[in-house]
Amino acid sequence: MSSREPLREQVEALSGRAANEFSDDDRRVFDEFKRQLNRGEVRAAERDEHGTWRANAWVKRGILAGFRMGAVIDLSPSDKAGDKAGFRFFDKDTYPLRATEHDERVRIVPGGTSIRDGAHLASGVVVMPPAYVNVGAFVDENTMIDSHALVGSCAQVGKRVHLSAAAQIGGVLEPVGAVPVIIEDDCLIGGGCGVYEGTIVRQKAILAAGVILTGSTPVYDLVREKVYRREEGKPLEIPSGAVVVPGARSVKSVWGMEHNLSLYAPVIVKYRDARTDAAAQLEDYLR
Ligand SMILES: CC(C)(COP(=O)(O)OP(=O)(O)OC[C@H]1O[C@@H](n2cnc3c(N)ncnc32)[C@H](O)[C@@H]1OP(=O)(O)O)[C@@H](O)C(=O)NCCC(=O)NCCS
Repeated sequence: MSSREPLREQVEALSGRAANEFSDDDRRVFDEFKRQLNRGEVRAAERDEHGTWRANAWVKRGILAGFRMGAVIDLSPSDKAGDKAGFRFFDKDTYPLRATEHDERVRIVPGGTSIRDGAHLASGVVVMPPAYVNVGAFVDENTMIDSHALVGSCAQVGKRVHLSAAAQIGGVLEPVGAVPVIIEDDCLIGGGCGVYEGTIVRQKAILAAGVILTGSTPVYDLVREKVYRREEGKPLEIPSGAVVVPGARSVKSVWGMEHNLSLYAPVIVKYRDARTDAAAQLEDYLR
């Protein structure tokens, strides 16, 4: 295949190949694809001017092709003497750790953090250990990824987001057409939150500690008196500026009421105001 062909077509061609059909040229295409993912030039999902997020299926197919293409090799770090004793890793050779350079202006505090090749971290991102950022993830400027946080495959995280300790942003690699989890600019994702299955959290929204969102979770808006649910073929969306806290709703069946059962229900208690801003302010001195 000619190197003049646009990367997209070259990557699309990879996705039709079986594991034993990849050539050296294919590997070069894949390496270039990963370089562009690392630099944030290609993304697993993009937002258009109307705020609609679309998955770039070809990018996700390219990432999946990388898994088929890869052979499991010894990826253990060795000391200067070449000794690998005790600290062994085995993974696909197509997805080694991504080298992060000083001039990217990303601060990675030492200790148990992995950024997988094919993930983009923009300048000013801070990653506290341990954290894991998976392939296809895009993390924009000045976002803080706190300890024990996961940024799953293809997740798109905006500018100045705070992913608090143990926040789990799920990966959505397949189906390839599915929009991954999106966290837009200036959101605060509180400690221990889980955002899964392509949920979109719009700009400046706040998830209080412990909020869990999946595609099937109804979200109750006390302010606008609405219930948000995932519509056919669309992700669940948390509106811009919403402050979501973990709540409960009572079960309506007679048996459920007899047993005083309730179900977990995230509730929008307010929209962001000056008080919330003060509560959510990022500790600038930590940066
Ligand atoms: C959401 C949060 C920012 C508070 O926002 P706020 O705008 O100051 O909220 P308010 O104090 O005005 O509370 C509004 C209502 O929500 C309720 N509420 C606030 N936080 C709540 C929570 N976490 N869970 C349940 N209810 C909560 C309040 O009781 C209040 O209801 P009421 O008027 O009936 O009493 C805060 O609760 C939070 O979760 N911060 C993130 C903590 C975190 O994970 N930090 C990580 C870094 S350490």
